[in-house]
Amino acid sequence: MAAMLEVRDLTTGYTDVPLIADLSISLAPGEVVALLGANGSGKTTVLRAIMGLLPAWQGRVVFDGQEVTRRAVHERVKAGLVMVPAGRRLFFGLSVEDNLKMGGYLTWESRLLRERMAEVFALFPELGKLRTHLAGKLSGGEQQMVALGRALMARPRALLIDELSLGLAPVVVERLMPAVEKIRNLFGIPVLFVEQDVLRAVELADRAYVLDQGRIAMEGHPKQFAQDRRLIRAYMGV
Ligand SMILES: Nc1ncnc2c1ncn2[C@@H]1O[C@H](COP(=O)(O)OP(=O)(O)O)[C@@H](O)[C@H]1O
Ligand SMILES: [Mg+2]
Repeated sequence: MAAMLEVRDLTTGYTDVPLIADLSISLAPGEVVALLGANGSGKTTVLRAIMGLLPAWQGRVVFDGQEVTRRAVHERVKAGLVMVPAGRRLFFGLSVEDNLKMGGYLTWESRLLRERMAEVFALFPELGKLRTHLAGKLSGGEQQMVALGRALMARPRALLIDELSLGLAPVVVERLMPAVEKIRNLFGIPVLFVEQDVLRAVELADRAYVLDQGRIAMEGHPKQFAQDRRLIRAYMGV
């Protein structure tokens, strides 16, 4: 099957030294793929380059058969490529509902917004009860649900998630991670997610890449990763 997202020989960085070099990854329709790697290995940078928040120096980003390498961020979002950034970045002074509406900014049709919001509340029933609450007053786990919901409001055709578990207690993460799989199953969209916890990620993913200093060091299926646990730990610095 043709990939939904294809990153080919991507090279980029923040200074004049490349941080990501000749990186190639792909995401097939319906696939859940983990991007693993130690702190500072370049995971966030890869996602930002895919979104166009950071220009590609070399290489290509192809989304659903269309080259988007030089397209503006909002055009990629409009095409259905949507990211949930690390750290949630909500409007703390706005209600849950209003935060969700921000994600649906591509449509102003209130019927569509309501429909999409109902889908988000179906995925996260606890958010439905908090719809009028200020985002800033929610727990970390609830805020992360809002961040995911906001991304879903844009009707993504592929979702990039940066460290869902960042700053959350293990018990909260335990409840949140299945959302990745539910998103795939309910919305039928592929998900590329960055995660620190290797074992948890491998459990969820159909496939995983390990990034080491801006290069793909390993690629494989969960089973293979389970066998190579020591090797993975070496890359992850744990
Ligand atoms: N805006 C930036 N300007 C300069 N260097 C950056 C910037 N953001 C990240 N870096 C550097 O790029 C490297 C990779 O960062 P990042 O992609 O955030 O890694 P990860 O998400 O895997 O922890 C790190 O060494 C980091 O210090
Ligand atoms: Mg990061």
